[in-house]
Amino acid sequence: MVDAPSRRLLGGLSPAAFLSRHWHKKALLVRAAIPGFEGPVTRDELFALASRDDVESRLVQRIGSRYTLEHGPFRKTDLRRLPPRRWTLLVSGVNLHSDAADALLRRFSFLPWARLDDLMVSYAAPGGGVGPHFDSYDVFLLQASGRRRWRYGRQRDLSLRPDAPLKILRHFTPASDATLGPGDMLYLPPDCAHDGIAVDACMTCSIGFRAALYQELAEAFLDHLRDSVDLAGRYADPDLRPRSDRSRIDARMQQRIARALSGIRFDAATIAQFLGRHLTEPKPGVVFAAPPALSRPAFARRIARHGVALDRRSQLLYDDGRLYLNGDDIALPRAGRAALCRLADQRHLSARDCASLPAATTALLHDWHRHGYLDDTA
Ligand code: SIN
Ligand code: CO
Repeated sequence: MVDAPSRRLLGGLSPAAFLSRHWHKKALLVRAAIPGFEGPVTRDELFALASRDDVESRLVQRIGSRYTLEHGPFRKTDLRRLPPRRWTLLVSGVNLHSDAADALLRRFSFLPWARLDDLMVSYAAPGGGVGPHFDSYDVFLLQASGRRRWRYGRQRDLSLRPDAPLKILRHFTPASDATLGPGDMLYLPPDCAHDGIAVDACMTCSIGFRAALYQELAEAFLDHLRDSVDLAGRYADPDLRPRSDRSRIDARMQQRIARALSGIRFDAATIAQFLGRHLTEPKPGVVFAAPPALSRPAFARRIARHGVALDRRSQLLYDDGRLYLNGDDIALPRAGRAALCRLADQRHLSARDCASLPAATTALLHDWHRHGYLDDTA
C-alpha cells in the first residue's frame, strides 16, 4: 500500500523503490520532505527535556578541532549561558515525551515498527556539530529549523581518532555537500561518513533504527533462557570409588553434568518469543502509571464512543502465534485477532472497531488500560 505522504517524504519514491535503491545502500537527499515543517518541540521544550534525569541528553562543544562531551541532565540556566557558537545539545527518545514527536516517528510507518528506534532532536548554535563520524544504523536527518550543512559520503577508512571523547573520524573525505533548511531530509545508510555543521542556530531531528549487535542479542537471549529453564534433580554419584588422583575432575562427573545440561532446550518458538519480548521491552526510564480506575463496563462504553489508542511509550508487536506488549506476551486469541493486529499496526482502533469487539478482547484491553499501556486521554 503506497500512500501519498510516504512518497512525498521519500522525494517521490515509493517505499518499495526507496527500500530497493537506498535502504542500507545509498544516501538520499529529499528537498521539502515535509513542507512547512517546524519540528515537534521548541528550543525551550528541548532544554526542559534535557534537564530531566529520566531523559538521555548530551552536550558536545567544539574548541578548535577538539570536542568535549558532557552527559545530562543539564540545568536550564546553564544551557542558556552557553557561548554563542559551536555547541550542540542532543536529546534522545523525544518521542517518549511528546505526542508531536511520536507522530513524527510514526510517519515512517513504511518501515516495520520492530526496526524503528527513537527520535533524537538536536539543537545547535551556529558552527555547532558532533564532528565527522559514522553511525552503525540507518538514519533520516530531518531539518526542523535553521540551516545545517551536511557533508557526507561512503569512505573506506573508518578509523577513529583515538583521543576523542566521542566517535570522530581520523580522516574525512566527503563526496557530497548539501545545506538543508526546514523540512529538508537526508537519509544515510549505516557506516556512511557524515558531518553536519549548523549554519545558523538550528534544530535537527534524527529518526533512528534498531540494529542490535548479535552479541547483545545473544546475551539477552541467555537471560531469557535463564528465566524459563527448569531442570529437575540434583547431582548424585552413588557409584563413587576411592582414588588417589583426588584433584582430577572425573570424566563421569563431566558426563553426568553434560547430560543434565542438555535438558536446556530451545527451538524456533523459544527464539520467536524471546524476540517479541525483547523488541517490546520498554525503553529505560519508562514507567507506566495506572490511570484512575474504570470498571470494565464503563471502559467498554468509553471505547465504543471514543475508540482506543496505545500510549505513545507502549510497544505492541505480533507474529504468527503471539502478541507482545511491553516485554510481555500472550497467545494471539482467535476471536478479536484482527482488531488486536490492527491496534498494533495503526496504534489505535476506531469507536466503530471497538463497538464490535468480542468480550474477551475488551477484557484484555481493559487490563492493558489498568496497567497504563493505553492512551487514557483518547
Ligand atoms: C546532530 O543532530 O547533530 C547529529 C546527528 C548525527 O550526525 O547523527
Ligand atoms: Co550521525
